[in-house]
Amino acid sequence: MAEQLTITELLAKNPVVTAPMAGLTDRAFREILREMGAGLIYTEMVSDMALCYNNHKTLEMLPAAAEQGPLVVQLCGSAPETMAQAAQIVEQLLGPAGAGNVVMLDINMGCPAPKIVKNGEGCRLMQQPELAERLVAAVVGAVRLPVSVKLRLGWDAENRNVLPLAERLVQAGASAVAIHGRTREQFYAGQADWQLIAEAAARLPAPVIGNGDIASVQQAADRMAETGCAGLMVGRGLLGNPWLARDMARHFAGLPPLPAPSRAEICRLACRHLRRQMELLGEYMAVRVMRSHLPFYLKGLPGAAAMRGRLNGLNDAAAVEQALREFFGE
Ligand SMILES: Cc1cc2nc3c(=O)[nH]c(=O)nc-3n(C[C@H](O)[C@H](O)[C@H](O)COP(=O)(O)O)c2cc1C
Repeated sequence: MAEQLTITELLAKNPVVTAPMAGLTDRAFREILREMGAGLIYTEMVSDMALCYNNHKTLEMLPAAAEQGPLVVQLCGSAPETMAQAAQIVEQLLGPAGAGNVVMLDINMGCPAPKIVKNGEGCRLMQQPELAERLVAAVVGAVRLPVSVKLRLGWDAENRNVLPLAERLVQAGASAVAIHGRTREQFYAGQADWQLIAEAAARLPAPVIGNGDIASVQQAADRMAETGCAGLMVGRGLLGNPWLARDMARHFAGLPPLPAPSRAEICRLACRHLRRQMELLGEYMAVRVMRSHLPFYLKGLPGAAAMRGRLNGLNDAAAVEQALREFFGE
């Protein structure tokens, strides 16, 4: 059972928050992030409708009761009623009445993907403040767990409405706000702008979790000092380099830095990641899911591009492990 700390207390203990990433922050990767010392760990987004329809694949995306918290389950949807119902399903399984490893529910208001915003979900909600507010109020009213929202700066450069919207959503009951420093129109291009994140951190009565482009401990330390955020959320910087969570957590705990992982350690972790996926998903799926992760473990090393091609052609896990060992010289 997770400790009954508030989100503010959890972030004060460890401000390292790992971002939701569809197709990537599944259980195997979350377990690695947990081992590395991350604080709050977000799941990938889960569709509210699919949960309400009892979709098996979607239920399997939820954390298992045995997974160690504190976890945040991110829900994606646009209708207050189904979002509230989905929140109750998660709370009963994994919140105070169930396993207790989920300490917060998050509402996705940042996803820029066309298929999501076309449905009125993700970042589209930032253009509909009234609906966004009703949605937060409905979810907050349906569960005991605290509820966060994940926002971008706004829809586009002319509509950077994150400050008034976040204020409204906190008034509606949101317990924390994560902000990715880009607009929807930017998708992932350009550099994240932390100016409005800093303003939000100064103005909002709820903890603000800043997000965007953190790839080193130095950047994390600078962002924290510049913005006074309660937490820092990291996404892509952890891919192939979950040691960043360890290094950030150590930094914020005042512990001395550890050496960067050796090639042998990277190889061992990549192989262990694959084997854990096999235990959870079976060999066929594990090999395919790892095609998204393994290139990141190889990144920056000579021969990585050719190796990526080679890995994509391999269908059995033993051959993948063998190829990795050869690549890393193990
Ligand atoms: C492959 C991928 C999948 C993502 N999936 C989600 C998601 O399911 N929900 C969400 O709110 N954000 C999602 N994001 C956005 C990240 O959570 C994060 O806001 C963004 O990557 C910026 O942080 P970073 O620069 O540290 O990666 C995704 C990003 C990537 C790259």
